[in-house]
Amino acid sequence: MIEIIGPLAHTAANLGVGRAQKPAPLQKQLTGRLQQAILGGRLPAGSLLPSSRLLAAEMGVSRNTVVIAYEHLAAVGYVVADKKGTRVSPLSSTTARGEPPTQSAAPEVAYAARIGQFTATRTHVDATLPLTPGTPALDRFPLAAWRRALERSMERALPLALGYGTPSGEPALRDAIAAHLRMARGVRCEGSQVVITEGAQEALNLCVRLFTNPGDLAWIEDPGYRGAKAAFNQGDLTTLPMPVDAEGMSVPPGAWRAYPPKLIYTSPAHQYPTGAVLSVARRLELIAEARRCGAWLIEDDYDGEFRYAGEPIASMQGLVEDAPVLYVGSFSKTMFPALRIGFVVLPRAIAAHVGVALHEMLRGGHRLEQLALAHFMESGEFGRHLGRMRRLYRERQQALREALTEHFASSEILGGDCGMHLTLRLAADIDDQALTERAFAKGLSPRALSGFTLERRAGANGLVIGYGNTGAEALAPAVRILAELVAGMVPASGKPRLRRA
Ligand SMILES: Cc1ncc(COP(=O)(O)O)c(C=O)c1O
Repeated sequence: MIEIIGPLAHTAANLGVGRAQKPAPLQKQLTGRLQQAILGGRLPAGSLLPSSRLLAAEMGVSRNTVVIAYEHLAAVGYVVADKKGTRVSPLSSTTARGEPPTQSAAPEVAYAARIGQFTATRTHVDATLPLTPGTPALDRFPLAAWRRALERSMERALPLALGYGTPSGEPALRDAIAAHLRMARGVRCEGSQVVITEGAQEALNLCVRLFTNPGDLAWIEDPGYRGAKAAFNQGDLTTLPMPVDAEGMSVPPGAWRAYPPKLIYTSPAHQYPTGAVLSVARRLELIAEARRCGAWLIEDDYDGEFRYAGEPIASMQGLVEDAPVLYVGSFSKTMFPALRIGFVVLPRAIAAHVGVALHEMLRGGHRLEQLALAHFMESGEFGRHLGRMRRLYRERQQALREALTEHFASSEILGGDCGMHLTLRLAADIDDQALTERAFAKGLSPRALSGFTLERRAGANGLVIGYGNTGAEALAPAVRILAELVAGMVPASGKPRLRRA
């Protein structure tokens, strides 16, 4: 037998890389060797294995070791033991039957057609680099207060909170979110309408699952949020890009009749990534037309909490009674992205109607974090944190705007007094993707504006520059580097751009 399964390792083997490796227990080694020999056809079906006494003597192990190995192999069906001894079972694997392997052992994988719809946008994903859009000031997050909130929920809710929770999320958090949204964002809602999700992304996916069928038409802002496009792809929707101007999404005349949508993705408070605010006239028109053709508007309010001048821009959902709006929110900017808590506010009648489906589709998890977040909000910590971050981001935005005005005087800066990024339009002959690669090599991570367009077109290039995670003092030097990179780039005309004095 030893020539079929090989000798076992009884002592530590030195593999020449420092300390000697401890061998696996003898019984585990023996089971593994026999298993491999059976699967590899070296012990064909029907072979009679030696008695435990004989094999123990041959391999230099105790008889008990062999008995346990045989019992294990019998339990999973490799061998059958009867009065005549232990024999190898007939297995369906071709090699186990001693047949030569067929030419292509791995069958061709048939992927879902939708897999081909996704295109890569970023070659690097370090979201903590300076100028990354969307990353909040992680080093300013009040960790001590968050730790206290987590400890409190552990003390009070364990061990029950280790079990499944309500599929739509912890009622305390849903109530806290509803109270906050009514007051801060003018959303008309109760906790029972709020469904907690794994970030806004899962809320978008949920909207697709609840309100569309494969093949339905969905409109999306262009340039726009790729996460929304990803959600539409997942639902096999046909996506129609809608242009964006200074007033936000601009629906061409006749589009409602020619291409009636089922779902429309918008970011009204701060269009992503151009920063436009959707005008009230367009909000009212969207609501009226969506109502007329039975469509749903997704309102992604991803950073609406951060407004630095004037009155906060209230939600579209709260503009009129019973608007056909699915209000989506996230704690990725207001808390931190890894928390992965977002939500969707469903219209009251819908929330009641889809209750059973949600119960079947979702599982209530992350209960301690949800309870901690509810306490964080109720205790005022969340509001205080938002206030501190508003002041910080206002200062950072101002520093970025000044630096961009100085170094890119002839370029248009998009984005109002809100959010965590500004967008810089660049001349049509600057390859913004190449520019972001060069910036990345310098440790900076702005994104190329052209990466947000759904349809490639000329003149849609620029940089989406985040300031949430970058100190005000670091912004001017970073923008200077970007200006130098642009100056050194060879445009289509062939000559490098001259650097501004
Ligand atoms: C437009 C937009 N919506 C939503 C989100 C938040 O997504 P999530 O909550 O899944 O992190 C982001 C994050 O970058 C975003 O840019």
